[in-house]
Amino acid sequence: MAAKRHTSIFVYYLRFMVILSLGPPNHVVLCSAQADSFVYSGFQGADITLDGSTAVQPDGLLQLTNGSDIIGYAFHRAPLRFRGSPNFTVQSFSLSFVFGIQSVFDKESSGGMAFFISPGKNFSNTFPGSFLGLFNPSTNGSPNNRIFVVELDTFGNGEFKDIDSNHVGVDINGLISIEAHTAGFYDDKTGIFRNLSLNSGDPMQLWVEYDAQTTQVVLTLAPLGTAKPQRPLFTTTTNLSNVLEEPSYMGFSGSTGSLSTLYSVLGWSFGLDGPAPAINIANLPKLPHGDRKARSKVLEIVLPIASAAFIAVVGTAIILFMRRRSRYAELREDWEVEFGPHRFSYKDLYHATEGFKNQHLLGAGGFGKVYKGVLPVSKLEVAVKKVSHESRQGMKEFITEVVSIGHLRHRYLVQLLGYCRRKDELILVYEYMPNGSLDRYLHFEEDKPMLDWTRRFGIIKGIACGLLYLHEKWEKIVIHRDIKASNVLLDNEMNGRLGDFGLARLYDHGTNLQTTHVVGTMGYLAPEMLRSGKASPQTDVFAFGTFLLEVACGQRPIKQDAENKQIMLVDWVLEHWHNGTLIQTVDARLQGNFDQDEANMVLKLGLLCLHPLAAARPSMKQVMEYLDGETALPELAPAHFDNFHMVSMMQGRGFRASILSYPDVTTSVGTFSGLSGGR
Ligand SMILES: *[C@@H]1O[C@H](CO)[C@@H](O)[C@H](O)[C@H]1NC(C)=O
Ligand SMILES: *[C@@H]1O[C@H](CO)[C@@H](O)[C@H](O)[C@H]1NC(C)=O
Ligand SMILES: *[C@@H]1O[C@H](CO)[C@@H](O)[C@H](O)[C@H]1NC(C)=O
Ligand SMILES: *[C@@H]1O[C@H](CO)[C@@H](O)[C@H](O)[C@H]1NC(C)=O
Ligand SMILES: *[C@@H]1O[C@H](CO)[C@@H](O)[C@H](O)[C@H]1NC(C)=O
Repeated sequence: MAAKRHTSIFVYYLRFMVILSLGPPNHVVLCSAQADSFVYSGFQGADITLDGSTAVQPDGLLQLTNGSDIIGYAFHRAPLRFRGSPNFTVQSFSLSFVFGIQSVFDKESSGGMAFFISPGKNFSNTFPGSFLGLFNPSTNGSPNNRIFVVELDTFGNGEFKDIDSNHVGVDINGLISIEAHTAGFYDDKTGIFRNLSLNSGDPMQLWVEYDAQTTQVVLTLAPLGTAKPQRPLFTTTTNLSNVLEEPSYMGFSGSTGSLSTLYSVLGWSFGLDGPAPAINIANLPKLPHGDRKARSKVLEIVLPIASAAFIAVVGTAIILFMRRRSRYAELREDWEVEFGPHRFSYKDLYHATEGFKNQHLLGAGGFGKVYKGVLPVSKLEVAVKKVSHESRQGMKEFITEVVSIGHLRHRYLVQLLGYCRRKDELILVYEYMPNGSLDRYLHFEEDKPMLDWTRRFGIIKGIACGLLYLHEKWEKIVIHRDIKASNVLLDNEMNGRLGDFGLARLYDHGTNLQTTHVVGTMGYLAPEMLRSGKASPQTDVFAFGTFLLEVACGQRPIKQDAENKQIMLVDWVLEHWHNGTLIQTVDARLQGNFDQDEANMVLKLGLLCLHPLAAARPSMKQVMEYLDGETALPELAPAHFDNFHMVSMMQGRGFRASILSYPDVTTSVGTFSGLSGGR
């Protein structure tokens, strides 16, 4: 009896300590001595710490943000032991919170809010907006973050593969959701899915439940006042034992981009290894009223009685506004709706590049000018390519391809982040490659270090791998159409990455003989392409052959011989091959520092890819096998190259040799019209 009495006194003592540490328990209801569960219906006096722009209003509303480009946090003060012991797995938990998102401008917002469980409370090095105040471009996605996030995202960001601009997602360690769903709920009576607009300004409740046995996370959303729907919004599986640190903190972040948005939390409940207590809805604070309605009423009254002078002022303002609008005007068509998340606003791109200032110009070539930019919200560095384009022909097809390519991610391809369209102009947004294009290293060395053989061979293999992916490994065949050294970009680790895929397609209206445009760059164009104007995987292989020679020899595809005559690089290499001096064609700047077998193989493979008959060229799969040394290269027989001489062959078909002297091949646009007349 005495012993029992002692323990219960001890428990009371514990409770007393907990109550003390919680401060005045106005709206706080304690559920158990361990404080492993709690409920706040309003946050006045709650045991939380605030950071950034967060404030608790007098009525208990936890307002994370009020303004633009800001971040606010609220943490449960004490860390939580989700495991109980460092060696145990993370226990089940459940939580629920009521939130409200109010856009100050026209239901547009640029940011989001999140519930998160993190190892610490210091987020000083994070970015606002799409980064939710939890990550920055270099920490995003790192397994060291050890963060579990439920995002309420009101901004569709193509960079992070957001599904739309109104979704709930579960993220682990980064912003690309492991699973996400458009905001809404399944009606208990009808079973029908009903959309909810997160930033409607109406309060909503979200339930998050983690089951340690199944490692399932169940998310359920409903408008405030509706009972928790039977069918959750979605369920996803992630073993949090592999994510969370012990102990961990939990809390909310709200983060706005360029548009002011109010992110608020009205109530929150949590239970570790048990259900979260119910939030008392009657006690919740109210969301502040937006002043939108009031404003429109004022307009209704003022406008009819406005004097002529007033109208003139308004008129001037409208003209100014229209001018501003036309500066940012975009072209949008119905079929583009589904591509929403991949669409960038022209305004953002305009600001990213400071109005496409020349000082941000990275290069002009290919199909237009490329600018370096920094996206206003995410601060991510991007390359913005402006392509002028008059006809709408093929645009839908092209955008569809662009967007689907945007979904593909490959180590050796430059990631396409999205696009924007204006009248006569298409703008493509790519990830930024800090080390520029390969041709600068091969041909304009003054400001670039020389690439050694190992690096060159690595780049060759990388590009072959990227091209193989486009040709064979992805859902559908993508033909690059413009492989050349200037379309190979070097990332920060000096890996070669293939850029600009599929762009040539826009200009390649194929079958109509009257208007056949051959697109590509001289020296890389396969003979059958010059004849028919039709691109195929084999025409890509041909261009890849030229690329191999270009990298191995360090020479342009069309070079000058000793007598200053223009000759094709392939003819020059072939001549050396006939004379048994193939290895002499390797870039003299390497000063003999290269692997002879590899160089021999690359040169011969280049010749093999450059076979005038498409059917005789290897596929990219074979090319990869040769490069990996899995298959030995077939011996080249002299008969293989009968009639191989490119210039004579093209001239024999009526091709004008003068075109070969086209100045500065690598940076030229490379669009030749009317070549089909050359037959
Ligand atoms: C947001 O902040 C502004 C000024 O800082 C203030 O006037 C306004 O009342 C605030 N809005 C809300 C809803 O708190
Ligand atoms: C956790 O496991 C390690 C060995 O894996 C052991 O040395 C340590 O004592 C364990 N700690 C606890 C608290 O069980
Ligand atoms: C947060 O971390 C940064 C470095 O990441 C440090 O400079 C700063 O002092 C830390 N702030 C606090 C409050 O610990
Ligand atoms: C709900 O939203 C989705 C995605 O935004 C949309 O496709 C669908 O038509 C909407 N449904 C209703 C009933 O509004
Ligand atoms: C989750 O991960 C932990 C640690 O890796 C492991 O011990 C546990 O078995 C996993 N749980 C499930 C259900 O797979």
